[in-house]
Amino acid sequence: MHTHPVPVITIDGPTASGKGTVAHIVADLLGFHYLDSGALYRLTALSALRKDTPLTDEHALAKLAEHLPCHFTGGEIFLANENVSDAIRAEAVGNAASKIATLPMVRHALLGLQLSFRRAPGLVADGRDMGSVIFPTATLKIFLLASPEARAQRRYKQLIEKGFSANMEDLCKDLLERDARDANRAIAPLKPAQGAYVLDTSHMGIDEAVAQVMAWYAAAKKVVQ
Ligand code: DC
Repeated sequence: MHTHPVPVITIDGPTASGKGTVAHIVADLLGFHYLDSGALYRLTALSALRKDTPLTDEHALAKLAEHLPCHFTGGEIFLANENVSDAIRAEAVGNAASKIATLPMVRHALLGLQLSFRRAPGLVADGRDMGSVIFPTATLKIFLLASPEARAQRRYKQLIEKGFSANMEDLCKDLLERDARDANRAIAPLKPAQGAYVLDTSHMGIDEAVAQVMAWYAAAKKVVQ
């Protein structure tokens, strides 16, 4: 009997490109599981900051990543038994996540956990290297882009809604620094995976982006069947 592998849609892109929102909605529409891989780097960073683990201690950080006591329930993210869904979104945590994500041992330590999200009936995975490294055989690969201005505006709105204070100028600077670090690192750099569709959402609403991804998926599924 020929069995199809569990389908995966990967949505990669720079910080605040809207990939999380789009990925979430697409997963809901298809009844698929959802992997927010950035959350795993953020959880590792939050643990490190709380334990005063230096962000350069690769061994200690990899150990933290490998034994993350995290679970995902009903859209909420828990570290041990604490709901850290909002805490991991703080800019300081995002910046620390971007730093530790340059370390090969940390990336390796999070590999198994990421792969374990591939369960029937399917998975939508968002991050930086979902299509290029973690799920290279994905049914559909997307790379979401948006201008730095559009992304800074989205991040500003997100932070204010979560009750954090934010300043557009600092946000823009942080965002460009983070892009540069994510794109220039030696391992799994931020770039479109081979075969990825590039979607620029600078002047596009969420609904339009979701509709485009759904259309590409319908076409990709036909090719696989
Ligand atoms: O998507 P995000 O902003 O929540 O991700 C936080 C950081 O984690 C990001 O700056 C880089 C890192 N990351 C990564 O290196 N690889 C991924 N697949 C996801 C995130």
